[in-house]
Amino acid sequence: MPEPYKIKMVEPIRLIPPDERRRKLFDAHYNLFALRAEDVFIDLLTDSGTGAMSDCQWAGIMCGDEAYAGSRSYYNLESVCREIFGHRYMVPVHQGRGAENVLFSLLIKPGQMVVGNMHFDTTKAHIELKGGLPVNCVVRDAYNTSVSGLFKGNVDIDRLERLITENGPEKIAFILITVTCNSVGGQPVSMANIREVRRVAEKYNLRLFLDAARFAENAYFIKNREEGYGDKSITEIVREMFSLADGFTMSAKKDGLVNIGGLIGIKEDRELYNQVRAAMVPIEGFPTYGGLAGRDMEALARGLREVVDESYLRARIGQVEYLGGRLLSAGIPIQQPVGGHAVFVDAGKFLPHIPYDQFPGQALAIELYLEAGVRAVEIGSFLLGRDLVSGTQLKSPLELLRLTIPRRVYTNNHMDYVAEALANIRQRRDGIRGVRITEEPKVLRHFTAKLELV
Ligand code: F0G
Repeated sequence: MPEPYKIKMVEPIRLIPPDERRRKLFDAHYNLFALRAEDVFIDLLTDSGTGAMSDCQWAGIMCGDEAYAGSRSYYNLESVCREIFGHRYMVPVHQGRGAENVLFSLLIKPGQMVVGNMHFDTTKAHIELKGGLPVNCVVRDAYNTSVSGLFKGNVDIDRLERLITENGPEKIAFILITVTCNSVGGQPVSMANIREVRRVAEKYNLRLFLDAARFAENAYFIKNREEGYGDKSITEIVREMFSLADGFTMSAKKDGLVNIGGLIGIKEDRELYNQVRAAMVPIEGFPTYGGLAGRDMEALARGLREVVDESYLRARIGQVEYLGGRLLSAGIPIQQPVGGHAVFVDAGKFLPHIPYDQFPGQALAIELYLEAGVRAVEIGSFLLGRDLVSGTQLKSPLELLRLTIPRRVYTNNHMDYVAEALANIRQRRDGIRGVRITEEPKVLRHFTAKLELV
């Protein structure tokens, strides 16, 4: 089935000539975050805040209520959240990391672990900034890109329980499941797995939260892959997922279908909600706007309703699958099956002659920009960074290049073009060089580090 929408407005994009691309990349110190977006032809850096809003959302922008306190748009958002997620309390925040900052400052005592399937990089950073220790506990298959699995984002339950018993539950601040699991390829987590984690959490009296940036995509996979869910609506599945959690953080820049925004949800713990409200004021803002304009909340309320439409999700995830299929038939190794928001190329396999500390994923990102003006992002050792104590470069279990597809933005012609570019690169891959870092900040270095070709 084609997309359940048509295009009312277009935005021109331009491919600059190859020699200009080479110069721009040199000036950017081979860090694609330092490029100007107008020098990028197809931008697959992220699906975060890069989606297209609908006519209904844009109309909502005009209806936003900009009251400082008690805005109508806040109450609209609250009622949509209650309806879709079934949690009693929510506060808006400016984006996902704002939610992490506020919530984690209340929940983590220095030295405590936060265990999850795999924490996203800002999540990991916020856990560490509060003195906590992020621990990833995803199933083994997630690290093997050629083993197909239905729910490669699942938590390894045995390891989770072992971690709790070996360290003692008091050493665990809370459990956090990321749905879908971005860092291993947008892989989904099954309802059965969330339920198992819930059982373990209750057994040891621990709280369970969801990092719910891509909750609707996860629900779509449950509907299509997990027994017993085929006849349920996306909203029913979402409600069931969230009913198993004590609360959530959410970057609304993904499945909220907005360009900015985030949420903290709390199922029923009034005391925690009151603490969150108090912590919000000096950081994100008064709890009925949380760093957002009234119009942003209005657009988000409408985006949340649109994202749980199954025909939208079918087209969305269908497009990601389409690109994955094109790459596979060109002999390019990718994480299989493809996830919800991106195709992850296994750059470690694609460029086996480049060692992890010369960042094969980054080398491939550079090559893809030079070849076709396409911007993608490394998810591997460059992103992972250094050991906090020894300062040595960590080796990521996977060296990936993420081709992240913005929502409702590109057509399948764009996907064909990207696939052809990678197929061309494959012909000359033996000559591709790695990179080394010349300058880097301590936290989240990949955004601003400078690099050179080896
Ligand atoms: N959690 C997950 C799973 C994410 O993917 C992100 C952001 C965040 C939290 C933080 O949210 O950006 O709104 O502050 N992911 C983007 C990405 C940046 O490119 O994957 P944020």
